[in-house]
Amino acid sequence: MSTVTSKLALHGGTPVSTKKVPFMATGLSEADIEAVNRVLRSGMLRAATKCAELETRFAEISHAKHAMTCANGTCALQLAYEPLFQPGDDVLVPAWSYIATAAMLSARGCRPVFVDCLPDTLQIDMADAARRMTPRTRGIAATHMYGCPVDIDGVQALASKHGLKVVYDCAQSHLSTYKGQGVGAFGDVVTYSFYATKNLGTGEGGLVTCNDDNLARQIKLLRSHGETDKYLHEQVGYNYRMNDMAGAIGCSKLDRLPAETAARQAAAKRYDALLAKPEFAGVLTPLTVTPGAVAVYHLYTVKLDLSAVTCTRDELAKMLDAEGLPTAVHYPRSLPQQPAFAKHLPGQGPWPVADSMGQRVMSLPMHHLLGDEHFRVIEEALAKVLAAVRK
Ligand SMILES: Cc1ncc(COP(=O)(O)O)c(C=O)c1O
Repeated sequence: MSTVTSKLALHGGTPVSTKKVPFMATGLSEADIEAVNRVLRSGMLRAATKCAELETRFAEISHAKHAMTCANGTCALQLAYEPLFQPGDDVLVPAWSYIATAAMLSARGCRPVFVDCLPDTLQIDMADAARRMTPRTRGIAATHMYGCPVDIDGVQALASKHGLKVVYDCAQSHLSTYKGQGVGAFGDVVTYSFYATKNLGTGEGGLVTCNDDNLARQIKLLRSHGETDKYLHEQVGYNYRMNDMAGAIGCSKLDRLPAETAARQAAAKRYDALLAKPEFAGVLTPLTVTPGAVAVYHLYTVKLDLSAVTCTRDELAKMLDAEGLPTAVHYPRSLPQQPAFAKHLPGQGPWPVADSMGQRVMSLPMHHLLGDEHFRVIEEALAKVLAAVRK
């Protein structure tokens, strides 16, 4: 590779590519746009036939009995937590996740009990979870991070032993499977986000699945002001409904999701092979997949070995970006490192793995449109920059 020893673009050299590799691909197809147009022409903008169709199809594809669309993934977590957990409950939650998983527990009046993550997968460490049980622990809220299911057997075993309720936050892992089944088959409730950049993105949107009829009824009531008949409200609830424009985009994108997921999985294989090469091995380490799980690669996140390079992760990211390879950080700090959770921390900790990841993780471009030319740029940019910073 001719560029390996040349001057870095950040320092005035010629970049590997002046055209950046797209970090994600969230564009709508003509079919998506036409699906929305049909809703607009119908004038029926509220949740109606398209949301209902999305629910039926999503339940089937994720192996769940019930699916309920809602406004976003944060509302989905609230709809899951409220029937299962009471204020004052302790709920085990990963120290390494997006903030919403733990924040909605706090909003419910529960105490998030943060559990460290496994160093290889960055998924919740169930041995650590068992150690953090308290007399008030009532549940586990586990996130299938980056597109990869957690150790579901481990979660369910701890839950059965102690009578805990289980919520899986699947905002990043649409269509992932565990031991041959869709993740909707496991736990009490599974929640999804359809935020614009998710594998199935409708702009804003969310969905909840469960397998219990009574729980599904409670979630539906909470979603729409506890209304059982027109202007008859059996209980207090919210307006967390989706709308049919989002529903139409969701249905249209769902047609393509299996193929797009396969393309993400193929791209992940290419990354795995690339990063196993001697010039990268030991510097950038891919995450491993939970045994029994099939990951859908919402993100392709790697860990930087800071002792192998002369720069920080953020400096490395700047150098790569200048060469045409944009990266991102998911996430810059663990949840216990978030000021929002300070009040919950007394008596908790430490989280050695999660707390060190904010300085080390780096997400490389991941989407269904990554092709040969993108991988050429990715490989050359990584090789060029790592040759300059490797100790
Ligand atoms: C793991 C996780 N949980 C929850 C959410 C919240 O979803 P939303 O942004 O749709 O509210 C997200 C979204 O980024 C997420 O990644």
